Parts: sequence; structure tokens; C-alpha cells
Amino acid sequence: MKILVLGGAGYIGSHVVKDLLANHMEVVVYDDLSTGSQQNLFEKAEFIKGSILDYPALLSAMKKNIDAVILLAGKKAVGESMENPEKYALNNLSGNINVLNAMAESGIKKIVFSSSAAVYGTPQYLPLDENHPLNPMSFYGFTKAEMEKYMQWYDKLKGIKFVSLRYFNAVGYDEEGSIRGLEQNPQNLLPIVMEAISGKRNSMSVFGNDYDTRDGTCIRDYIHVSDLADAHTKALLYLDKNEQSLVLNLGTETGISVLEIIKETERLTGKTVPYKIAPRRPGDPAIVTASAKKAFDALGWKATHSGLENIILSTWRLYQ
Ligand code: WQD
Repeated sequence: MKILVLGGAGYIGSHVVKDLLANHMEVVVYDDLSTGSQQNLFEKAEFIKGSILDYPALLSAMKKNIDAVILLAGKKAVGESMENPEKYALNNLSGNINVLNAMAESGIKKIVFSSSAAVYGTPQYLPLDENHPLNPMSFYGFTKAEMEKYMQWYDKLKGIKFVSLRYFNAVGYDEEGSIRGLEQNPQNLLPIVMEAISGKRNSMSVFGNDYDTRDGTCIRDYIHVSDLADAHTKALLYLDKNEQSLVLNLGTETGISVLEIIKETERLTGKTVPYKIAPRRPGDPAIVTASAKKAFDALGWKATHSGLENIILSTWRLYQ
């Protein structure tokens, strides 16, 4: 299969490309390098520098005998999406519609889409399964939920089959160390812990220690990027054999607290994480965990890289 990976130079995209190549797929990476990095490119994959906002360029990339598209190009900072929704409307909605239109025009019938647990909003029950109502709390989450609706229509009207992968908290780095591009200006917990421990920032905040959880801090479902990558390959193989679209959670079904991440990082690195307890961050649910049963049933997928130790050590190796 020949796969066009939109956003293939990014944090998750580069891990996906590595997995596809390891599974003998032909890969074309299309990325504008706005947040992705040249360091994340693989020699064995063709690279086109381009934006999903550039319709003619996108279309010409799709005319290279592409069998399926993986769409990871997008903006992903939840906080920024509330301050600058225009940027998210442009990239995550207009850009994504360009992708669907270019697929329709070039006759490509398969897409794997990078969605998010942010589509659910505050959990009404746990673990979250795919039937949980969608009530995004951020504009970012809204763009992901909207794209899922667009894909349902393009499935009906244009025969484009999709697998939408709702990632929980993506963490970790390739264990073989072949992906070296660090995220610039990270917004998520683990890279912030790493920046604090390696002296790149003086201190970090733990947002709230008065939640109704075992240690008072928020609990999340942290999933290793190599597990996410594996799910993309399996989703493509699924689409190759099945004519039915799917929406799947990708998580570990296990919850880890903010303090557990910090304590385990200290234990594994032998260093102290400089942190202070800060007020709760608005919009943070106490606990978010996934049911990943559907991904197991449909794809035979299961998280195998997502042990806490591996998550932390594979990240620390890069930040050291
Ligand atoms: C994790 C926990 C914070 C930073 C978001 C999206 C979700 C997914 C992942 C992809 C929370 C706490 C964080 C800090 C802290 N994205 N924290 N101090 O908010 O769970 O999920 O990113 O689509 O859809 O909603 O991730 O990494 O920001 O936070 O205490 O400096 O760490 O309060 O409990 P979140 P996160």
C-alpha cells in the first residue's frame, strides 16, 4: 500500500511513519514543518513540504497513486484553541475539508484520522467508551468532533471509508531513539516535567491537589506514541479488507495521577522535579480513562509500550 501521511513530520506522525515503513508500506510524508521537524523525517519516505491549506499542492500529492491517507496535520494545543479559535477553524476545519475534497477529487477511498478524547468533554461515566455523548469543552475538541461528522457524510456521499482514532494522552518516544525532534513549547504534562527536571524551566505547577482521586491530583490515561502508531497501521489493514468506517478509542484503560508521574520520574532519573501546587486548571476533569475494547475487537490492537516506566524513560532519554 502507498500511504500519504499528512503531518508526518510531527510528534505522532513521525512515529506513525516509522511503523508504516517497518510494515513495508510505501510512504509519502506531506508536512508544512510549522510544528513538525526536519529531524523527524525518514530517508525511506518521500517528503513533500506543503500545507493542507494549499489545495492544488495537496491534490498533486494525492495524484501519486496513493491508496490511503493518514491525516495528522493539525493544531493541538487545547488552551490556544480557546484564545485563537480562528487558527483552529482554519487548520483543523478548512484544512481538513480540503483533505476530504482532494480525496474525493482524486478517488482515494480510505482515511485514518487523528481524533481525540477531547471530543467527550467531562465524563458522565468511566471508562469512556465510544458511545459516550460528545460534548467538547474546548474549541480544539470541537474541531475533532466536527471532522468526524464530515467524515460520516463523505462516507455516505462519496464512499470514503474512515477510521477515526480518538487518542487519550499521547506520551513517550520511540524506544530505538530514531525520532529526535523535541516538541517546541510543549503544553502537556510529561514534556513539562522533563523540562523542569532538566533545568529548561525553573519549576512547574501541579494544577490542583484537591480532586476526589487517590492523591488529590488528576488522573489520565497515558498512551505511548508507538502504541498509537501501531493502531494506525492496523487501521489501514482493516480499511483494506472492510467496507465499514469505525470510531475507536486508543488508551490503556489505566489511570495515572499527576503526582504518580512526578514521583516515578524522580525515582527513575534520581533527580528532583521542582514543582508547586497551583490552583485547578479550568475545564480539567478529575479522571479520564478509556475503554479500548472496541479497538481490540476491531483491530486486535492493545497497548504494549505504555508501561509507566517505559513512557518516562523513553522520554527522558531525549531530554537528558
Ligand atoms: C494532563 C494532566 C493537568 C500540565 C489534553 C487534551 C486531550 C489530549 C491530551 C490530544 C492534567 C496536569 C498539566 C502542567 C499539570 N490531546 N498538568 N501541570 O488536558 O489531560 O489532555 O491533551 O488530543 O484530548 O484535552 O493533557 O497533558 O495538558 O494534562 O498539573 O503543567 O496534567 O491538569 O490533569 P489533558 P495535559
